[in-house]
Amino acid sequence: MRYVSKIPRGSLLFAPMEGITDEPYRMAIQEAFPEWQYLSTDFLRIPTQGEYSDKLVMDHFGQRTFLNTKVKNKTAYQILTTAHANTAPHIQRIEKLGFDHIDINLGCPSKKVNSNKGGAYLLGDLPSLKKVISDIRENFSGLFTAKIRVGFRDDNNFFDILKMLEDEGVEAITLHGRTRDQMYEGRANWSYIKQAVKAINIPLIGNGDCWNLFDVEKMFDETDCHGVMLGRGALKTPWLATLFEENKEKIYAVNEEYLLFERQNNLDYYFYLLERNYLKSGLDKEQLLRRFKAFSRYIFDDYPNGDVMRSKFLRSRTLEEFQENLNKIKVNPI
Ligand SMILES: Cc1cc2nc3c(=O)[nH]c(=O)nc-3n(C[C@H](O)[C@H](O)[C@H](O)COP(=O)(O)O)c2cc1C
Repeated sequence: MRYVSKIPRGSLLFAPMEGITDEPYRMAIQEAFPEWQYLSTDFLRIPTQGEYSDKLVMDHFGQRTFLNTKVKNKTAYQILTTAHANTAPHIQRIEKLGFDHIDINLGCPSKKVNSNKGGAYLLGDLPSLKKVISDIRENFSGLFTAKIRVGFRDDNNFFDILKMLEDEGVEAITLHGRTRDQMYEGRANWSYIKQAVKAINIPLIGNGDCWNLFDVEKMFDETDCHGVMLGRGALKTPWLATLFEENKEKIYAVNEEYLLFERQNNLDYYFYLLERNYLKSGLDKEQLLRRFKAFSRYIFDDYPNGDVMRSKFLRSRTLEEFQENLNKIKVNPI
């Protein structure tokens, strides 16, 4: 199976996140923490009328990524489309330009996207879902995967969705254990992941509320999933795949002091590589500061005084002030 040779069993995958995982961010992650086996663009919305240019389609993925075989091979091109969108010509364009992995976003809970009948809406409208999936499969010979939730309003279609995706030629599924209507409430229900693993014969990636190494191990153990995808947990600990690789045989021995020590070690390296990649992409310092603040949302959570630290970083008026704060942590962490 080509998915398995690209993303072996036991892999950790960095989730697509709109507003975060643009090209400079992905390049920095790959450079700093190459143990992530998979990265993804956030979604390109396929238009209902007209066609995007080759340049727009390429820019969404990123030229530097495209030219770097190692990064390109582990990066999926995510799209979001509807039954009435101009899907086929865009899929042909994506293939013609040389992309070899398309992932369809069937989990987006945004009101705007769903009222336009895209994202998680399709999980509640199986005839439209089938049309969308076959529009893509018929026009794309590369690897085709889907990222879903357990349903739109409820889980009534859950097994039908899984079966249909498999029958229509989807090669792997990532499942976030919530319905669309649950948005991000409560905790993701991993029992759906376990059931999905048993129900289909293609790789199933588990997703939802893995925040640390222990959660990752637990999700693998409880569900027998092929891989684990992390979104907010990856933003909190971007070096989590490295930690997992280094400790997977002895996670029971990992303690809080070690994890905090690793946070200290990795924080400024992470921000340094982000700075390098964003400045190369043309961002100025003010724009970069705004980005840095967005990347700080969860990253101080594990410090005993995390809230105070975060608000200090969020109050930084200049990039230099943000970086001074980083230096201070290095010397005097807590
Ligand atoms: C800020 C943000 C942006 C997101 N953007 C996307 C996206 O573009 N495509 C997508 O498939 N999922 C997107 N997601 C969903 C995540 O990929 C993931 O499925 C979800 O956050 C649950 O995983 P987690 O509990 O590990 O965060 C986004 C999530 C967040 C928090």
